[in-house]
Amino acid sequence: MKLQLVFLICTFAVGALGHAVIQLDADFGVMFHMTTVPGRIEIEVTAKTLGWVGFGFSKTSSLSTSDLVIGGVHDTNETLYHGDYWSTNSNVVPTLDEQQDWGRNDTQCHQNATHTIMYYYRQLDTGDADQDYVIPNGNIYLVWSFGTSDTLDNGYRKEVYSEQINMVALGGHGTGSSAMIQGSVAITLLCVAFFSFF
Ligand SMILES: *[C@@H]1O[C@H](CO)[C@@H](O)[C@H](O)[C@H]1NC(C)=O
Ligand SMILES: *[C@@H]1O[C@H](CO)[C@@H](O)[C@H](O)[C@H]1NC(C)=O
Ligand SMILES: *[C@@H]1O[C@H](CO)[C@@H](O)[C@H](O)[C@H]1NC(C)=O
Repeated sequence: MKLQLVFLICTFAVGALGHAVIQLDADFGVMFHMTTVPGRIEIEVTAKTLGWVGFGFSKTSSLSTSDLVIGGVHDTNETLYHGDYWSTNSNVVPTLDEQQDWGRNDTQCHQNATHTIMYYYRQLDTGDADQDYVIPNGNIYLVWSFGTSDTLDNGYRKEVYSEQINMVALGGHGTGSSAMIQGSVAITLLCVAFFSFF
């Protein structure tokens, strides 16, 4: 009986820790993990700007034909904004998707004196075949961009990560990502301590 209880607590905690963190460059970081809602991924982006912040996916190593979420915090009144965008050409401002598929967790979004932190969630397959990619359980390029102000413009920085990433596997539960392994080790120690105590 006691053993079963310990096992349940351990499983839940390991699941909660199954997230991946990647510092894409000196000014842009992303954290992501699959949620308990089937097929849903949560993504937190942290960028060194007080302007708009874009993050998304591309099937080629280019910002053109990429699927992006763009958002930020208005400096004057701290109001949050975001939208689901589709880029047709890396040199023009992306277009707002006809179907909006990204949710935002307002309690986890903010900006400080130097950085903007935005927290979103989305289904891997939004059903929008024209203006979204299905985030695959396979490799895809990560793209990011940001501006100096909250007016969406052609972008102060526009980048594509050099390696393709499997977000579903890395952000999944029990997949053996490095974040996951560290989480498992920490929780294993916690469980042993818990069990010995009783
Ligand atoms: C906050 O400021 C932005 C930019 O000036 C403006 O577009 C928006 O309507 C404002 N929102 C509120 C709730 O005042
Ligand atoms: C937003 O984040 C908070 C804090 O982690 C959490 O309690 C809440 O369930 C989240 N809301 C959504 C809609 O995901
Ligand atoms: C703002 O937040 C970022 C990301 O959490 C952090 O690295 C940075 O030190 C913070 N800056 C200030 C001035 O608090």
